[in-house]
Amino acid sequence: MKADTTDFGFQQVPTEEKAARVAAVFRSVAARYDLMNDLMSLSLHRYWKRFAIGLSNVRAGHQVLDLAGGTGDLAKGLAKRVGTTGTVYLADINEQMLQVGRDRLLDYGLVQNIRYIQANAEALPFVSNHFHGITIAFGLRNVTDKLKALTSMYRVLKPGACLIVLEFSTPVLPLLRQIYDSYSFHLLPKIGGLVANDAESYQYLVESIRMHPDQESLKSLILQAGFDECDYFNLSAGIVAVHRAYKY
Ligand SMILES: C[S@@+](CC[C@H](N)C(=O)[O-])C[C@H]1O[C@@H](n2cnc3c(N)ncnc32)[C@H](O)[C@@H]1O
Repeated sequence: MKADTTDFGFQQVPTEEKAARVAAVFRSVAARYDLMNDLMSLSLHRYWKRFAIGLSNVRAGHQVLDLAGGTGDLAKGLAKRVGTTGTVYLADINEQMLQVGRDRLLDYGLVQNIRYIQANAEALPFVSNHFHGITIAFGLRNVTDKLKALTSMYRVLKPGACLIVLEFSTPVLPLLRQIYDSYSFHLLPKIGGLVANDAESYQYLVESIRMHPDQESLKSLILQAGFDECDYFNLSAGIVAVHRAYKY
């Protein structure tokens, strides 16, 4: 890989172009994003997200950042935990995803304790040592410079607090890996084409999953960003992993 290029799915693109290409994907999928999540994961994403929130240790009164928060699934669960004395900041680089998220959470009656911020994970616009917890679900693999983003998350987290990264990972059972590969490469883009009229975006999403670091490589990257401790939990036999990283 040349230094000035990066992966966009299986393609190599100029590094400065990746964010715009990712933005185009999420602009295009925003309206059908929630329906597609349920269809593609057979609703398993709800369980994965509940597990991630459970690990976050977020409590009443906390200031929490849900980064790459999109349409707000995690923010919704976190808002219930922080209650009326805490605040959830739902941050995303993409205006369309934020709009869908804000409308959805308003429909759930969640108003008082959620703030919406358009921001890039690589350069978080918050003061240092501020958050009692940060979550990022299915977002990190879309970020151009993951190390820079993790370093930025480390900076804004309070000492003693933890970061929760929920992301697709590498299945641990070889047979499952084969079935999963054929499902993702053959069926998913077709479902994306039929339901969202956008096979291309779902082709990128599948490819980006394969390009994402496996469990151990992501743990190394998180530690390289400055975190003091990191463990992880495989869900659905490693199709998804939750990394939990502490700043001391
Ligand atoms: C697959 S969606 C996940 C949304 C939500 N967290 C969930 O789990 O349903 C990925 C989100 O990451 C956002 N994103 C991509 N690159 C980003 C960046 N550099 N900074 C912040 N958000 C980013 C996208 O706009 C999109 O909303």
